[in-house]
Amino acid sequence: MAVYEVKHPLIQHKLGLMRQSELSTKQFRELSSEVARLLTYEATKDLETETITVNGWAGPVSVHQIKGKKITVVPILRAGLGMMNGVLDMIPSAKVSVVGLYRDEETLEPVAYYQKFTSGMEERIALIIDPMLATGGSLLATIEMLKKSGCRRIKGLFLVAVPEGIEKITAAHPDVEIYVASIDERLNEQGYILPGLGDAGDKIFGTK
Ligand code: PRP
Ligand code: URA
Repeated sequence: MAVYEVKHPLIQHKLGLMRQSELSTKQFRELSSEVARLLTYEATKDLETETITVNGWAGPVSVHQIKGKKITVVPILRAGLGMMNGVLDMIPSAKVSVVGLYRDEETLEPVAYYQKFTSGMEERIALIIDPMLATGGSLLATIEMLKKSGCRRIKGLFLVAVPEGIEKITAAHPDVEIYVASIDERLNEQGYILPGLGDAGDKIFGTK
């Protein structure tokens, strides 16, 4: 099981700001991107590199570069888009594969409405991004779509998760790595994370 709660002071500080109810859409968006950047740094620390020689100011010099061009970022619509710029700031050449899902408000089951993956999924590391991992239904559905496309290496980046959602994923897909800024306490009766952030999609898009 690979679940990393990334307790970096910058992440904790920024997430603390995000929990305030009086935040503007602009502030919530900016902070989502900033935390996503920091989670990306952590989630990519095991990427393989290779040594190459470049012409430096004083002659040839050996440097490291990331091997291949193998990452695809997978935002789960809609709220996952709020983390995308932060991830792409760190990995500008990453391809983007989009999954469209929403949670049925009554059943809390995910409803799929869109899927568009880049080519060569078998060779890529998928970085799923979504601010919230609640019941785990949306993530489970996304992992199943990715595995069906041939993707074998999957990591998920989240702002907030709860233990029951994490357990659902680790039980079904123990190979998937989870990076999260905070593991919160529990879900309320409507399936919202407590203390959580509220409705992340609404806050990022300025709806409701
Ligand atoms: C939220 C969130 C996740 C999902 C998490 O999306 O962004 O995708 O709920 O819940 P789960 O773990 O119980 O599946 P939502 O369905 O509200 O859609 P939105 O992103 O379009 O607002
Ligand atoms: N989706 C959200 O936007 N917030 C939650 O707390 C749970 C699911």
